Amino acid sequence: MEFLARAVDLGYGYVKYSKGHLSASGDLPCDAFPSTAPQSYGHNDVDGGVMRGLDVVPVEIDGQTYHVGPQSLVAAPGLFSRMLDDSYFTSPQYLALFRGALHYMGLPGRQVDSMVVGLPVKQYRDPAVIAHVQRQFSGTHVLPRRSMSLPERHVGITSVRVVPQTVGALVAQSQAVGAADRVQHETNLTIDVGYGTLQWMLSQGTTAVPARCGCTMGGVSVLLQTMISSVDPSLTADPHMLDRFDKGLMDPAFVVKVDGKCIDMAPFRSRMRAVLGEHVATMMRSVGRTSDVDNIFLCGGGAPRYLSLIQEAFPNRAVHAAAPAVSRFANLRGFQVLSELRCRLVPA
Ligand SMILES: Nc1ncnc2c1ncn2[C@@H]1O[C@H](COP(=O)(O)OP(=O)(O)OP(=O)(O)O)[C@@H](O)[C@H]1O
Ligand SMILES: [Mg+2]
Repeated sequence: MEFLARAVDLGYGYVKYSKGHLSASGDLPCDAFPSTAPQSYGHNDVDGGVMRGLDVVPVEIDGQTYHVGPQSLVAAPGLFSRMLDDSYFTSPQYLALFRGALHYMGLPGRQVDSMVVGLPVKQYRDPAVIAHVQRQFSGTHVLPRRSMSLPERHVGITSVRVVPQTVGALVAQSQAVGAADRVQHETNLTIDVGYGTLQWMLSQGTTAVPARCGCTMGGVSVLLQTMISSVDPSLTADPHMLDRFDKGLMDPAFVVKVDGKCIDMAPFRSRMRAVLGEHVATMMRSVGRTSDVDNIFLCGGGAPRYLSLIQEAFPNRAVHAAAPAVSRFANLRGFQVLSELRCRLVPA
């Protein structure tokens, strides 16, 4: 029997989603769009022309329309801020982003048998948040339509499993370095650096040790905010400006301009360590002793920023960092493995 298994990693910065099953060679068709879902104020009619040129879809939740998709930041009003707090996970925007992912994954049928999603370590400790996400994502969803003249499409999700995001990273990264069997019997530290958070999970095999897991808001955005505040403190919550600095940090050829002036990114790069070092120190206090840590896995879109600091914190250990181009998809890949396992598409 043919099953359909999918996964979505809804981060503070980007929504990552699978578009198919893992291939025999381990490739996963997947993509991402920003986790911004600006509300539309009076120009809901995508069909009417206002938003036609942008790659966004309108998602309606409780009578309100949200623009979701690769160009949602462009569609956002001038004064707009990203959600970087606990309310994100129970917000209508969170559900709108999930439905946007269902649209962009181009589902071949009307039923998804297995969907795996994740929550940060912190929110995963709250059963009410897990139950809320599971309730919201299960059952039938009306998919967004680019044009009101297109017929309404529904998709049913039979089973939703919520896992800690770092479990996805552990599954994917341990497979990637050929250590999947070994990690079952060893002590593993999995570190996920995203847009909003730095998360870590110490686990015996795949079983987390709660007292040695944690999360700080030490993701890429804290760096971007620090940089921008030294240029113009009034811009630290401006997602458009944060996006510019993020691009500038990733790509030395990208010219960052503020108020028409080009910003030299070089001094920021050298000052980054101090900001990130505080978050590493918090993680090291939570992990406690390091002598029993056998494997270290590092992933998430912000992983390259922390690599040298983590290496210094664990001098005699190899840090298994995901390749920069795929690092942000590590959680998703692990979720997809788990999603397909549930459907018995791959041997358990
Ligand atoms: N192709 C890319 N497009 C956008 N960002 C990228 C890309 N490649 C790497 N990045 C980096 O990845 C970061 C986002 O990482 P990631 O997607 O893991 O965060 P997230 O999962 O949304 O956040 P969190 O885990 O805190 O909820 C960006 O801020 C950017 O620095
Ligand atoms: Mg993430």
